[in-house]
Amino acid sequence: MLSRPRRNRVNNSLRSLIKENELTINDLIAPLFIVDGKDELIPVDSMPGQFRYSIDLLVEKVKTLSSLGIKCVSLFPALDDSLKDPNGSESLNPDGLFQRAIKEVKNACPEMLVMTDVALDPYSSDGHDGIVNPDTGEILNDQTLDVLANMAINQANAGADIIGPSDMMDGRVAFIRKALDESNHRNVGIMSYTAKYCSAFYGPFRDALDSAPKSGDKKTYQMDFANTREAIRETKLDEAEGADILMVKPGLPYLDVVKTMRENTTLPIAVYNVSGEYAMVKAADEKGWVDGEAVMMEMLTSFKRAGADMILTYFSEEAARLLQK
Ligand code: PBG
Repeated sequence: MLSRPRRNRVNNSLRSLIKENELTINDLIAPLFIVDGKDELIPVDSMPGQFRYSIDLLVEKVKTLSSLGIKCVSLFPALDDSLKDPNGSESLNPDGLFQRAIKEVKNACPEMLVMTDVALDPYSSDGHDGIVNPDTGEILNDQTLDVLANMAINQANAGADIIGPSDMMDGRVAFIRKALDESNHRNVGIMSYTAKYCSAFYGPFRDALDSAPKSGDKKTYQMDFANTREAIRETKLDEAEGADILMVKPGLPYLDVVKTMRENTTLPIAVYNVSGEYAMVKAADEKGWVDGEAVMMEMLTSFKRAGADMILTYFSEEAARLLQK
């Protein structure tokens, strides 16, 4: 036989030499949920191993992640219903839970990059990412942009390093970039949720934040999961609008989108391995149906193979511990 591909697989050393893609701790961004209070550690039932942390415990968690070599966390606030209104006003409170969390994390752990989420849903009594017209149910694009820009400024004032618009309003990246520049935050970056699909995989996240839409769905702003050309269109727009990093979300069912975007931009690409993907692995592992740890590493490596530079994943700590060994 002239060609024997198995010859390159005969032992571990050879397999290491020919390895094309490798997951490292530098690739990992850890999403974390925050609640008000002290000494609170509230499990997210649909995401075993994930919690809503009060700020004191959040800071401890961030220190642990930092000691493992993780460079970036992405924070999400779980707010009491009493703080929610149709305009998401609490997002602009400079002393709100989210802003306090950013400040304390940056104080305790200045080297940890803090990424934020910019969208109305955790603050909105309607559970939508934008302002809802009460008469028609329409999600109002241009009226929402002002709130988003102010939210981003507020987060940057608190010390955020990377702003993550996840709302999918048209024109928001340029709008936020301008607002950041004009408020002296030229070095605060934007990781845009560029190709964010309208996905059933966000279910457990909405449990964690109690942020599911009260009526309707997100189909008029998040993308149809049948489409890829649309992702290229969003890529070109976000690039032109000044985004620093582009994201694809969810991850696993969208590896083709990661690859297509990789071929259509020179910007770094992030992928969000979302709550439902995490929950499925944990559930099957608990049942003994798959080896959760092995599936996790296979899944995370597949993002690298598809062309992602970084991965937002609830597996960050677990994977980092494994990679450290
Ligand atoms: C909010 C937001 C969502 C997620 C991140 N930011 C939910 C949504 O759009 O409904 C989902 C993350 C996950 O499922 O892990 N704009």
